[in-house]
Amino acid sequence: MPLVPMKQLLDEAVKGNYGVGAYNVNNMEQVQAIVWAARDTQSPLIVQASRGALKYSSLVYLKHLMLAAVEENPDLPIAMHLDHGNNLDSCKTAISLGFTSVMIDGSLMEDGKTASDYEYNVKVTKEVVNYAHERGVTVEGELGTLGGIEDGVGSGEIHVTDPAMVQDFVEKTGVDALAVAIGTSHGAYKFKSEPKLAFDVLEETGKRLPGFPLVMHGSSSVPAELVAVVNKYGGKMPDAKGVPMDAIKKGITMGVRKINVDTDSRIAMTGAIRKVFGETPDKFDPRDYLKPAREAVYNLLITKMKDFGTAGHAKDFAPKSLDDYRQLYAKKDRK
Ligand code: G3H
Ligand code: 13P
Ligand code: ZN
Repeated sequence: MPLVPMKQLLDEAVKGNYGVGAYNVNNMEQVQAIVWAARDTQSPLIVQASRGALKYSSLVYLKHLMLAAVEENPDLPIAMHLDHGNNLDSCKTAISLGFTSVMIDGSLMEDGKTASDYEYNVKVTKEVVNYAHERGVTVEGELGTLGGIEDGVGSGEIHVTDPAMVQDFVEKTGVDALAVAIGTSHGAYKFKSEPKLAFDVLEETGKRLPGFPLVMHGSSSVPAELVAVVNKYGGKMPDAKGVPMDAIKKGITMGVRKINVDTDSRIAMTGAIRKVFGETPDKFDPRDYLKPAREAVYNLLITKMKDFGTAGHAKDFAPKSLDDYRQLYAKKDRK
């Protein structure tokens, strides 16, 4: 099974009423952990790379690592997605690398920090949709802004999505999926006290866009047991807090179909590496610590794929190609 457009995975998730994790990757061990977890749970998979990840890997390395995952697992439906594209150019770059899906985060200006206005968001998102759909590529947009600043992504201020605007945004731009801001943020410090999300906003958004895939960014749960490993072996992550799994499950019942996770994999890897360094300071072969790091991510994702309800759905449908979707979009435009 080849790389599939993300729209197919999300539309299938709508039909089956489950969520699909979109897992960020930067290196080989993360790609392997994610794809092996998907293989062993038989889960459709979204592998995503941020602009920072692409830069870190000189673009082509990450592309080929993702393609290696597809080559090794020809029976798994996998979408390759650009996380937080900041303009048409970054989306074009990802599409030229073979990505089957892009996010244009027009809720922020090109600097990825300053909150934009609605007109700007509609304009830049529409531009990307026109370019991507001509090539069969899926587009995710965003309305509202997350809190938290992770390597330059995020305004640091939460602007919760206004449900009154979602239909207009989807109609004007033609996006295939919509990221909504309901109080989550990127990173390991999402809440100062108890986690609180705007489920009323999510519910209303779901009602206004029935059957339309919603996306939840900042969905790491920051599991206490993983943070404890980091802290036990010399790390310093006081007061780290994430989105509880029950909240994500509730989101899925309200229309969330794509669930973005990066921080949890980072914490799992870091804890595993710190443990090796702490317990066996004589080790210096990278395989001695990267293998446990890879296992830690694998174990974490097996649980997530089951909890999100993705497990077991890999063979529910026949995969479609970018060309199939190019024709579908063209037909829709002619109507
Ligand atoms: O959007 C945030 C993701 O966690 C990606 O983070 O830009 O540090 O790769 P990054
Ligand atoms: P986390 O920082 O919660 O893992 O969120 C990742 C994300 O939203 C990537 O776009
Ligand atoms: Zn994000």
